[in-house]
Amino acid sequence: MFEFCPYTTNDGSVGLFSPSDDDIYHSSCGAVTEAFEKFIMPACIPEFIFNNDGIRVLDICYGIGYNTKTFLNFILNLKSKNFLKNYLEYKNKLSVYDDKIYTDNLITDKYNEPLYSDKISKNNIQTNCDEQIYTNNIFKKYSADFLHDTIRKKLNLKNFSIKISSVEIEKDLVLISPFIKDKLSKSKNKKIENEKIKKFLNFTQNPGNASMTDFNEDIINLYNNLIYESIKLKPAVSTFLLDNILHINDKISDYKDIIHILNDIRYSGYFSPDIRRYFIDYINQTLNNTPKTNLNAFLHNIYYNHISNSHKMALNTLKSLNIDFRINIDDARQVLQSDDNVYDFVFLDAFTPAKVPCLWTYDFLKLIYNHLSDNGLLITYSSAAPVRNALINIGYFVGENFNPLKNKSLGTIASKNKSLIKYPLSEFNLGLLNSKAGINYRDENLNALNDEILTRRNLDVKNSNLMSTSKYKKLHKLP
Ligand SMILES: C[S@@+](CC[C@H](N)C(=O)[O-])C[C@H]1O[C@@H](n2cnc3c(N)ncnc32)[C@H](O)[C@@H]1O
Repeated sequence: MFEFCPYTTNDGSVGLFSPSDDDIYHSSCGAVTEAFEKFIMPACIPEFIFNNDGIRVLDICYGIGYNTKTFLNFILNLKSKNFLKNYLEYKNKLSVYDDKIYTDNLITDKYNEPLYSDKISKNNIQTNCDEQIYTNNIFKKYSADFLHDTIRKKLNLKNFSIKISSVEIEKDLVLISPFIKDKLSKSKNKKIENEKIKKFLNFTQNPGNASMTDFNEDIINLYNNLIYESIKLKPAVSTFLLDNILHINDKISDYKDIIHILNDIRYSGYFSPDIRRYFIDYINQTLNNTPKTNLNAFLHNIYYNHISNSHKMALNTLKSLNIDFRINIDDARQVLQSDDNVYDFVFLDAFTPAKVPCLWTYDFLKLIYNHLSDNGLLITYSSAAPVRNALINIGYFVGENFNPLKNKSLGTIASKNKSLIKYPLSEFNLGLLNSKAGINYRDENLNALNDEILTRRNLDVKNSNLMSTSKYKKLHKLP
C-alpha cells in the first residue's frame, strides 16, 4: 500500500503529502483553488463549448482527481445562469486590462513577486495574435443570456460529447479520490487576497480616473464569486466518479487496501462519511455476489437515502450529459503510446521535473503533441526551462499561464495554434532557454527510470558549451 498524509489546505479541501516522494500533491493554498486557477480558468471552457460540438480532456496525473473533479464541477456550474454571467462579466471587464498587462511598469509591481524579470512590451513579443479563436469577442458580440442559452442547450444535446481520459500510476489514489472531502471553508486569506487584487487594479488604472475604483470592486466581487462557486465541489461529482471508476475499470478488483484506508482512524476525518458508507456497502454486496440488477437497486437506495435533493439533481444532470469518463491506471507513457485519441485540453500535473522527469522529457511532450488537437491546449503549472525549451523544439507555441488579476504566471500553456497563446514568453525567458537551463530531459524509448533521466541530463549539462544559467542571469542583472 502506498503511503500518504492528508492535510487540510487553505480553501478547506484535502491535500496530500507523500513521505516517500517527499513532495506535496497539492499546494497548501488550496487544492481545489489550485485546480480551478491553474487548469480550468486558463482553458476558457465556455468559449470552447460555444464554438465546438464536444470537448475532450486528458488529465495526466489524476492523483485524487481535483483537475477532473473541478472540470466536472465547472460544467455543472455552467448550467447556472448566474455563474455563467459572472464568468462572462469577469472576462469582459478583465479584457479592459489586457493592454496594460504588458506595460513595463507592471514588471516592477511592488505588491507582487515580479513575474517577468526583464522588460516586456507588446512590441517585443510574438505579435501574430490577431485572430484568436476563443477571445473576448464572443462576449462582446452576444448578450450573456444568449450565450448562456446556447451553452446550456449545447450541453444538453445528445451529440455533444464530453470525454475525459485520466491517467494515474497509483491505483489506491484513484480509488480514494471520490471519498476526499472537498469542503470550502471561507478562506481566512480572502481579505488579504482582496487587498492584493485591489492594489494591482489600482496600479493598472489610469491615474486620476476616479470612476475606475467602483469598477475594481466589481471585478473583485466577480472573481470571488467565481472562485467561491467553483471550489464548492458538488458531492454529486464524487458520486459520479465513484460509479464510473467502479463500473468501467477492470484493473480495479482488489478493494482491501481502500477499505483499510477508509476505516483507518488517522484518515477518517478527511473522507466524506456518506460516500464512504456507500462504497463499503457496495463492496460488501459485491463480495456476496449479489446479481447486478439487485446491486444497482440496492445502491440506488443507499445513495438516495442519504443525499440531498440538490445533489440528486446535480447527479442527474451529470448522468444526463453525454460524458465518457475513463481512468487509466498505468504509467502515463505507456497509456499514451497505446491511445489513438486526440484531446482539446491536456492537463499535465506531474510532480516537478527534478522529481519525476519522465513526464517532462522532450519525448513524452512530443507524444502529447501527437495527441493534441490543432486548436488544443496543453496546460501545466510548470515554468521549468527544460520543459519550455522542449515544447518549443517540438513545435508547440508556448506562453505563460498568466492570471491577469493576480499579475502572476501560474505556469505554461502550449498549443499548435499560435493565435491561442495569449501571453507569449518574454525575451528574457526565451533567452534563458538557450542557456544550460534549457537542456532537455531525454527518454527516447519512453521507458527510462527517473534516476537515469536525471543522470543523463546532468551529464549533458556538464558537457555542454552553452552559457551557464547563472552567467545568463548575471548578464541580465538578475540575482
Ligand atoms: C502532483 S500529483 C497530481 C495531483 C492530482 N492532479 C490531483 O488532483 O490530486 C502527481 C501524480 O502523478 C502520479 N504519477 C507519478 N508518476 C507517474 C507516471 N509515470 N504516470 C502517471 N502518473 C504518475 C503520482 O502518483 C501523483 O498522483
